[in-house]
Amino acid sequence: MSYPKRYLITSALPYANGLKHVGHLAGAYIPADIYVRYLRAQKRDVVFVCGSDEHGTAIPIQAMKEGTTPQAIIDKYHFAMKQDFADLDISFDIYHRTSSPLHHETAQEFFTYLNDRGELETKETEQYYDEEAKSFLADRYIKGTCPNCGSDRAFGDQCENCGTTLSPDELINPVSTLSGNPPVKKKTTHWYLPLGKHEQFLRTWILEQHKDDWRNTVIGQCKSWIEGGLQSRAVTRDLDWGIALPSSLKGGLGKVLYVWFDAPIGYISATKQWAIDNGKDWKPYWQDKETKLVHFIGKDNIVFHCIIFPIMLKLHGDILPDNVPANEFLNLEGDKMSTSRNWKLEMRDYINDFVKKENGGGQCVDMLRYYLTQIAPETKDSEFTWKGFQDAVNSELVSVFGNFVNRTWVLMHKLCNGKVPVFHNDLIDDQDKQLIADITASKEKVESLLEQYKFREALYEVIDLSRKGNQYMQKKEPWILAKKLAPLNPPQGGTSESGNMKRSLNIDDTKAPPSEGFGEASSLEGREAAQKSIDNCLHLCLQLSANLTVLIHPFLPNTAQKMLHMMKVVDKILDWKNAGSLKLLSVGYSLREPQLLFRKIEDAEIAEQMEKLKAGLVKAETGSLTAGQAGQKSDLTPQASDLKPQIQYDDFTKLDLKVATIIAAEKVAKADKLLKLEVDLGFEKRIIVSGIALHFKPEDIIGKQVVIVANLAPRKMKGIESNGMILMAEDKDGKLKFINPDEASANGSSVS
Ligand code: 2FM
Ligand code: ZN
Repeated sequence: MSYPKRYLITSALPYANGLKHVGHLAGAYIPADIYVRYLRAQKRDVVFVCGSDEHGTAIPIQAMKEGTTPQAIIDKYHFAMKQDFADLDISFDIYHRTSSPLHHETAQEFFTYLNDRGELETKETEQYYDEEAKSFLADRYIKGTCPNCGSDRAFGDQCENCGTTLSPDELINPVSTLSGNPPVKKKTTHWYLPLGKHEQFLRTWILEQHKDDWRNTVIGQCKSWIEGGLQSRAVTRDLDWGIALPSSLKGGLGKVLYVWFDAPIGYISATKQWAIDNGKDWKPYWQDKETKLVHFIGKDNIVFHCIIFPIMLKLHGDILPDNVPANEFLNLEGDKMSTSRNWKLEMRDYINDFVKKENGGGQCVDMLRYYLTQIAPETKDSEFTWKGFQDAVNSELVSVFGNFVNRTWVLMHKLCNGKVPVFHNDLIDDQDKQLIADITASKEKVESLLEQYKFREALYEVIDLSRKGNQYMQKKEPWILAKKLAPLNPPQGGTSESGNMKRSLNIDDTKAPPSEGFGEASSLEGREAAQKSIDNCLHLCLQLSANLTVLIHPFLPNTAQKMLHMMKVVDKILDWKNAGSLKLLSVGYSLREPQLLFRKIEDAEIAEQMEKLKAGLVKAETGSLTAGQAGQKSDLTPQASDLKPQIQYDDFTKLDLKVATIIAAEKVAKADKLLKLEVDLGFEKRIIVSGIALHFKPEDIIGKQVVIVANLAPRKMKGIESNGMILMAEDKDGKLKFINPDEASANGSSVS
């Protein structure tokens, strides 16, 4: 098989506006790190780049929340995130930042290159503007209701709830996040990347050339973008935080590059910085067709990495990504992870609660890496639960992998003088042959899965190999054979050593035939035969352990290091080509005492984490009432300060409120919060899409009278036109209730 000449691997640049959670880790960082460690073990030329995304409205918004400057925010979170990744052994070759002068320069040059060649177009449009804040409302400066899922946590660029990419004009009931006011429209000119011009290129490149090697979920999203009609995308913004447009550009004053234009260019500037730091040339990594470029991201970043950035790269004459193995989302204990609701497990929390604790360290890093890979949301959303974490650690890492390695080492020290025993070829049996075949086959299996970005399955294969090792040992029962050595190793009478050994191995020797009890006289031949069988068993188990070290290393680097230490061998053995070999440990080589690879996770630790999680949610709900009240209130009692600014009577009379009856209701496909309702207004029937699906079953609300805003401009939600809005109130638990007349009223009658 021929391999690419070099690899450039990227992980999504996280926004430097807050600490990142384990969902991010599972989505874009651990899989990339596994892949890169595997490539390095294959001795391929690979550079792994990442860094902080330090522009966009997310940064000044966080600065406002924390009462500080955007610069202070990016400094704080850049270094904190960098430390988190280092603590979890994500082995970037460089962790850069987009506020660096090198990046500003690189992004400006990129923009100028495209603009000078006429690949960008300028357009004057009307955009939302906040008159009080005197600011255009791009991206996260504006929020409202998501037209896709009905959530009120949607911003002008993306819905926090369902991840849909949005533009401010698509938001329902938009308000400025700067002042809380409804925005007005104001004219402004911007530079656009005309995506539509590149439709054919995208169809051929993605839908034909990559239809079989990219994940279905990625192809699916790309297809729906391409077939939904590719609109031109503005690549500049009216903001004062970001990369200024090149000073030579007419009309560019006061404008900056759109964060999603500059951020992916951050992969290039990070490569440049890495090259400077290491005396290398960055160009081949981005310009030579023999480079394989792979972007590891979460699913909310697909459009940028599969459509927009590739168009930019093509126009700039750079290579295109060979694959974009995007992951779906990781939920937490039955709910979506959410920063605003504090329903999350931050990497830092795990580091503090496990890795930095007395019995933590590298093993706890590997436990998290293990569980997050085992549940990786590769094909669909998946779920982190603390119980699942405990089970994965205790019943797989401890009881299967750790147990196999530990019992191999303990037995080898007890029965083979701490040295690698010889393998007696003349005694090879079918069980040995099967284990040898399993070891030999595992390299190709794991390798092929890793090359296809199937990390979950690859890890499963490695653990399964250790399971086979346990089964082999269970069949061979070297501890039973050991009894035949008794005359040479006098019986221990249940005291110290043998008792300890049995305990530490968790060995059940009750199945031993009575004739093989301690102290039974064994013939010399019998002893020799027993020793040879033991030798063969432990020889293979040791070679298997060495293989497991090579195979597990990309996933669990700390575990591999511990095993290297126990084998008294150096990193060289981690060379991938060693996998599958039965000659990794030389006969007669003495090995160290075993170290425990993993500790158990106790019930109390899990209970404590669940408490913390729930306490965080209560805090977030309390804090969301009104600013400054966090910690004082624990319910959702409305406050006078929740009142919106005063309006005039004329404003009120603009609303046309009418009584109507719900005559049909059904769920909206792929939108867990939306119901499609048909209401009877007496003079007409109409469709209203309402975000109440989590509060009512469709069959329970047919026949109910409600009050609707009847003159609201139609809006499309999930492709369905909604004509009006149902009025609702929240009860003390946050449950929605209809507002209706206390006695049945005529449909269509006015509410005033
Ligand atoms: O979604 C995010 O967190 C973005 N900051 C990812 C950017 S990836 C790349 F393009 F820089
Ligand atoms: Zn949404």
